Amino acid sequence: MELIITENYEEMSAAAAEIVVSLLKQKPAATLALTTGNTPLRLYEKLIELQQSEQISLRETTIFSTEEYLGISEDAYFSLYNWLKRSLLQPCDIKPDQIIRLKGDALHPDKECEYFSQQIEQYGGLDIIIEGLGTNGHIGFNEPGTKQNSRTRVVTLSEETKEYNFQYWNHEVPDRAMTIGMSEILAAKKIVLLASGTKKAEALYKALKGPVTSEFPASFLRLAEQLTVIADKDAAQLF
Ligand code: GLP
Repeated sequence: MELIITENYEEMSAAAAEIVVSLLKQKPAATLALTTGNTPLRLYEKLIELQQSEQISLRETTIFSTEEYLGISEDAYFSLYNWLKRSLLQPCDIKPDQIIRLKGDALHPDKECEYFSQQIEQYGGLDIIIEGLGTNGHIGFNEPGTKQNSRTRVVTLSEETKEYNFQYWNHEVPDRAMTIGMSEILAAKKIVLLASGTKKAEALYKALKGPVTSEFPASFLRLAEQLTVIADKDAAQLF
């Protein structure tokens, strides 16, 4: 595991952007799994700027959108995929055939999750996954209780996560969601965990120093050698 502590959110985002840039230089047709939440938003802005100034191109990549609320269509205002689309995919002119996402309104959500998982394999695995950190230790929507070998699936959101997610929309979110599984996250060739701000300090400490346990799924990330944690000094204040 590599831990990079930066001065602030801006530098955290720049350090993450550097990792993406170096991947794209080696492999323009890389597979990228991307999360939402507020944490990666500045990183996404930087990627947009880099593409606009022609320093990188995301046009050959395949993007996996790793979470969605159950029952929510892609056009819904509070669709996580829609959020990723607005924050990165549209400004970077990513075409629909470059995107693999969890369709919240799929008729058969379990099959949809299985399909997502198969697609990861079909594309030869994930070159990189960008993750944020839930204050309750969730990764994606792998909530406390998640097994290390869990696959992409439908999950029930904890009250804490629903409350946290309320702030994004000023609206209640569904009780259930689809998430990339812990096993697919751990199998990624590179995992980048981002954490910013004092509110993440305790969770980051538990993730990196606490017991490796289902009760705090982020702790499983330590089992992956290819983990890079980028935290600003507020998030890393307990180290
Ligand atoms: C949300 C998302 C997670 C995200 C986390 C942190 O519930 N599903 O993927 O990483 O919570 O969010 P934020 O970055 O807004 O703090």
